[in-house]
This record gives sequence, structure tokens and C-alpha cells, in this order.
Amino acid sequence: MTQIGTVTIKPPVIGHRGVAGYAPENTLASIRAAAAMGIRWVEFDTKLTADGQIVLLHDEKLERTTDGSGRVADMTLTELRTLDAGAWFAETFRGERIPTLSEALVELDALGLGANVEIKPDPGREAETGEAVGRLLEREWPRRLPPPILSSFSTESLRAASSVLPDAPRALLVVDVPADWHQRMDALGCAALHCAGDRLAGDVATKIRAKGVGLRCYTINDAELARTLFESGVEAVFSDFPDRIPGADRIPR
Ligand code: G3P
Ligand code: MG
Repeated sequence: MTQIGTVTIKPPVIGHRGVAGYAPENTLASIRAAAAMGIRWVEFDTKLTADGQIVLLHDEKLERTTDGSGRVADMTLTELRTLDAGAWFAETFRGERIPTLSEALVELDALGLGANVEIKPDPGREAETGEAVGRLLEREWPRRLPPPILSSFSTESLRAASSVLPDAPRALLVVDVPADWHQRMDALGCAALHCAGDRLAGDVATKIRAKGVGLRCYTINDAELARTLFESGVEAVFSDFPDRIPGADRIPR
């Protein structure tokens, strides 16, 4: 168990996009599947619709994960709600809808799951998206849960969300760890660093951990790589297949 600011990350595995290996990513079904596997934390991606609503989606376009087409940012929530977000993954998930962030929070509350809310802005909507996510979390985050961990590849989004929620724990999200990672974390008030695990050199991990910074890696679906990362000091990994990760703290159900 690791204490990061006011947040305790208990399991070494965080479900990625819910639990994307077993259910359509970024849906309520995916969040439920994570809980059913005994996962205690999930990550998901958040985006703005044309009418300023926040939904769970990874891509800027709809083709890969729904039966719709075109850009998410061009569609209203009402339009997005007509789409099927489950059948592309498996027929049993047909009828699954794109969830709003509000709906996801209700689900987290019911299941007792913590979450890393990744802010995924469309180009040009960085600050707007960060601020909208921050405001919604301020209003609706379930008080009984540990506070959400905010992250974004967009510095502007993370800064905007943090200005609304200054006490929320946040993570610098990068692919490769930049040379100036420490300064960037300081500038954004980040307590943790999230990076691509397959590109992280062991000595970099050691340097980061030596500063007392939380280090978490995505997207790890391989037991051997997970073991290597944990040995180098990585505290948690994001996984589509959490049951493949050794040492995952699973709740018997
Ligand atoms: O937040 C960790 C990870 O989800 C970042 O990459 O592209 O899967 O959102 P991506
Ligand atoms: Mg993500």
C-alpha cells in the first residue's frame, strides 16, 4: 500500500479504461467488470461533447469504439446517446451506451472504486475540458471514495482542472519520461508520474522513486514486464487484463 498525498493506492493494478480486455472500454460495463474482478481502482478517459457535456471516450472519432462515425466534438450528448458502444467489442455488450462522467461517478460510488480521471481534450479545447471536468468532479465526486487522481497528456487541461480542484491529487502523464520531469511535476503540483511502462528504463525509475514520487505505468498486460517494473520501484500499473498482473490485490467475492 502506498500513500500519495491524501490518496492511498492499495492494489498494484489499476483497470485501464475500466477493464478494457474484458468489456468495451470506457463504458459502465467496463467499470462493473473491473469491480467484479476485484479491482479497486480504474482509469478512464473523459472528453467534451459539442454541447459541453463530459463523456467517457478515448478517441477523437467515433468509428473504433461505437457504431457511429465522425468527430465526438461535433456531436451533442443526445446524438451520442443513440450510438452503440458495446457491440464492436462483443455481441453480448450490444446496447451499451457512451456514459457521461456523472453516470460513471454514480457507478464508482455504488461499487466503491477509486478512479484516475484522465482528461482527453480535443485540440483547441484543452482548458475548457479541464475546467469542465474539474467543476463536475467538484460537484459530484462521491465523498465516501478516495479523491480522484487527475491526469492528462495536456498540461493546459491539467492546469485548468487543478485550478478548480487545487487539492485533488494529480499526475504528470507522459509517454517517455522527459529530462525535466521534476520541474514539470513541481510546476503542476503533481505527486505522481504516469508513463509508458515498456519505455521506462530501470535507472530512470530508481531516480524518480528516490524523490519520493509515485510512479505508475501503462499499459501493462504482460506478467514479466509487470514484475520487472515492480522490482524497479513502480508502485502500480494500468492494465487491460489485471488478472495477468502478479501480486494484484484482489478481493475475493
Ligand atoms: O492514463 C494512462 C493511459 O490511459 C494513457 O494512455 O492513450 O490509453 O489514454 P491512453
Ligand atoms: Mg487513458
